[in-house]
Amino acid sequence: MPTGVHGRSQIRRLSPFLMKRIIGLMSGTSADGVDVAVVDIRGSGLSTRFKLAAFNSVPYGRRIRQLILPYLDGQGISAAEISQLNFLIGDLFAEAVLEVCRRHRISLRTVDLIGSHGQTVYHQCVRSTFGGRQIASTLQLGEPAVIAERTGVTTISDFRARDVAAGGTGAPLVPYVDYLLLRNPAINRAALNIGGIANVTFIPKNVRLKGLLAFDTGPGNMMLDAAVAIQTKDKLRFDRNGALAARGRIIPSVLDQLLQHPFYRQRPPKAAGREQFGIQYTTEVLRLMRSAHIEDILATLVELTARTIVSALEHRGPTKHSIDQLIVSGGGARNNFLMSRLRALLPRTGVVTSNTVGIDLEAKEAIAFAILANETWHHHPANVPSVTGASRPVILGKVTSA
Ligand SMILES: Nc1ncnc2c1ncn2[C@@H]1O[C@H](COP(=O)(O)OP(=O)(O)O)[C@@H](O)[C@H]1O
Ligand SMILES: [Mg+2]
Repeated sequence: MPTGVHGRSQIRRLSPFLMKRIIGLMSGTSADGVDVAVVDIRGSGLSTRFKLAAFNSVPYGRRIRQLILPYLDGQGISAAEISQLNFLIGDLFAEAVLEVCRRHRISLRTVDLIGSHGQTVYHQCVRSTFGGRQIASTLQLGEPAVIAERTGVTTISDFRARDVAAGGTGAPLVPYVDYLLLRNPAINRAALNIGGIANVTFIPKNVRLKGLLAFDTGPGNMMLDAAVAIQTKDKLRFDRNGALAARGRIIPSVLDQLLQHPFYRQRPPKAAGREQFGIQYTTEVLRLMRSAHIEDILATLVELTARTIVSALEHRGPTKHSIDQLIVSGGGARNNFLMSRLRALLPRTGVVTSNTVGIDLEAKEAIAFAILANETWHHHPANVPSVTGASRPVILGKVTSA
């Protein structure tokens, strides 16, 4: 039973059975902006029910993106910059909350909790020697003290650290929510989120939480965005609806070479980020296509995303089941050309967006962090050891009181 609730926003709702209003905040590896989902949640665990009250993605301005992206892409960063960036991103997350609440006339007094993922600036889930020890680590910035202070709402943050401390990869964490929301006794489902990186959760009809399988499949939109930005000298940020890629022709020799990247052959648990598929790698890849048209480059990269997703579905999933329904979310679900390639490569699977099952495709990950915050509040472990490799289920997140 949750206790110790402080702050003006939480006086009314102490019972776990009443509705709680929780704001989920997410910024993924695309670093395109802060996704803000205002979610009304009843119950917890397997009895979780939710309704999306409001959603907006508040873009990072160009200046902020230009400041942040090089760090995310592995440029060295000083302690001073980490500290400044942490408070800056906290400020941006808090402002995004204030803006979305203002836009939808939602009083912050009605908000019980914020669940903030933050912005990942470093994630190394494979242990390496540091200080004579084997260390894995992860760092999400966006100071929760700033968010709690500016919104007056208790903020749960840093969801990944505890799983890493328990020996896990710290990612992905959304599979727990996929299990709560999408399990279905009649059909074999898989949930696919196409953000900067693409990841899949397998939810066969007889699945149990303990046996859940999920992992990153490789690049989602990340290389596409980087290629568009480089080729258009930052005039375009992404290929809207996949319109350019749809006019292009795949360059088979390059595609074959890209498919050799060792990440695709690794067994799960595995997680990818800008370290593998960011600007640096994309710049190298573009050298292979120096004289090609942008349309052909994008067609080739869309095919890479589609093929690596399909190969993961076919070769790395639970072998007994074919997938009846693939539920796609994330910005990549808006790329019509990518969706048409997935449909073509998966003729026996119903490929739908998560809107079809009542989960706004853009809001899904932010909704997930609202639900994960609710689980933390109820002291429920929400990592899935079979997914992350952690030694045990642990309660995720840190609480900063209002
Ligand atoms: N209409 C669209 N057409 C094609 N791609 C889109 C569209 N809308 C969003 N995207 C892609 O989705 C990305 C953002 O996806 P998102 O789910 O926010 O990823 P992340 O979680 O990594 O931030 C954009 O950078 C862009 O590549
Ligand atoms: Mg995003």
